[in-house]
Amino acid sequence: MASLPPGNMGFPLIGETLQLLFDPNFAIKRFQKYGPIFKTRILGKRAVFMSGPEAAEFILSSHMDCFTWRDGWPETFKVLLGQSLFVQEGDEHRRNRKLMMPAFHGPALARYVATMTTITESYLKRWEEKREFIWYSEFKQLTFDIASQIFLGSHPGEDTARLSQLFTTLTNGLFGLGLRKAIAARNEILDHLTQVIRDRQTRPTNDALSLLIQARDENGDSLSLEEIRAQAMLLLFAGHETTTAMLTWICLELARHPEMLERARIEQSRLLQQTITPMQTGRTQNIIPTSVSPTRPCLTLEQLGNMPYLEQILSETERLHPPVAGGFRGAVKPFEFRGYQIPAGWLVQYSILQTQRSPEVYTHPEQFDPDRFSPERQESKQTPFSLIGFGGGPRICLGIAFAKLEMKVVMAYLLRDYVWELLPAQSLEPVIVPTRRPKDGLKVRFGRRPI
Ligand code: HEM
Repeated sequence: MASLPPGNMGFPLIGETLQLLFDPNFAIKRFQKYGPIFKTRILGKRAVFMSGPEAAEFILSSHMDCFTWRDGWPETFKVLLGQSLFVQEGDEHRRNRKLMMPAFHGPALARYVATMTTITESYLKRWEEKREFIWYSEFKQLTFDIASQIFLGSHPGEDTARLSQLFTTLTNGLFGLGLRKAIAARNEILDHLTQVIRDRQTRPTNDALSLLIQARDENGDSLSLEEIRAQAMLLLFAGHETTTAMLTWICLELARHPEMLERARIEQSRLLQQTITPMQTGRTQNIIPTSVSPTRPCLTLEQLGNMPYLEQILSETERLHPPVAGGFRGAVKPFEFRGYQIPAGWLVQYSILQTQRSPEVYTHPEQFDPDRFSPERQESKQTPFSLIGFGGGPRICLGIAFAKLEMKVVMAYLLRDYVWELLPAQSLEPVIVPTRRPKDGLKVRFGRRPI
């Protein structure tokens, strides 16, 4: 008979929860000791951690019927994020995901670029004035401004600042820090959303919320007020912490690798040389208007689709520094993996961090090497489910295209006109909760590039 995998269940009840929360190498150490699957006890539950492309494919695709998302999240997520995509399954999940999809792909995405650009430019100006700052906190505000303006049509200023504060309280609650305050914050956010939705119902605009309100399924039914509020709150939550962490890592790695920074700058300069500005031609089609510096050459949609080296940098950052270190599921059926038997009711985690460091897939996996994604090498292409920073299978991240576009817009502007250097006396070691990021948030000195 198949046995349970190796591992240590830790102390009664609490198991190894503290080690998981405070040791960024919790899973890596145990994978090294036990191999690609080990057992433990966390958050009061018996659990297995699994790593490698084979495990990821098993959980995300071939055996996904053995698992639910709902049972993988702690209670706090169900309480605070309500009936949103994260805790939905089966037909209900499929229907809602389909209704939400148009707001994050195709023509809708192209419309968002102008907002992303305008907000990015206002932050560039602010950073130039500040000169020294912690980039993680700045990116967090930037990405929240973008998300709240695009998802809810909020205007930067008091409303966004208040919402951002409420979200910080909510996120703390999700990770077990101050549930009572987090519930009060959630209620305030829901009240705000109710008002905005009522307003959009009478006066539709171009934001994602209006698209959600107008969306209809095959039967002609729309999402209820309750559903729209829950999904909008999830999008704000899922749509900014992650992008923040990844932008921070990209800027850190480029500061550590000047030769890569230079190559990425050259790619941007080439694109700029081909730029046709509206002033030169009188044409405005596909040119993204900028509000802050009308003299700066505009970023065009064509250019955004033509940045292969920047895309390699994004993929390599996703691989080496995934903001989400792994995804949790609940096993609803017993299952067997690699000769081990796991009972129903256990918690299961597929490790993104460890899978993306598989030496069978990636040469020198500990090194930051964007060229592993070059057309000649394409290391991840030979093995399905080896690059899974956005998850994979039918429930791959809904915001993947949105996030990549946003990061490209921000990075293109940074590469074109700015320099940054790391300040001394800071820890760049990763912490993992709520998203994986450098401990001190990346302190930098920032300025305009000399011409
Ligand atoms: C760099 C940025 C991002 C990263 C690294 C990221 C990562 C992920 C990962 C790993 C998952 C799957 C988790 C699992 O399998 O348990 C996921 C799911 C999801 N993400 Fe993202 N995400 C990012 C940005 C966004 C953005 C901008 C949005 C919203 C616009 C978003 C919305 C979602 C949603 C709704 C799901 C659940 C999809 C479903 O259950 O069908 N994410 N994301």
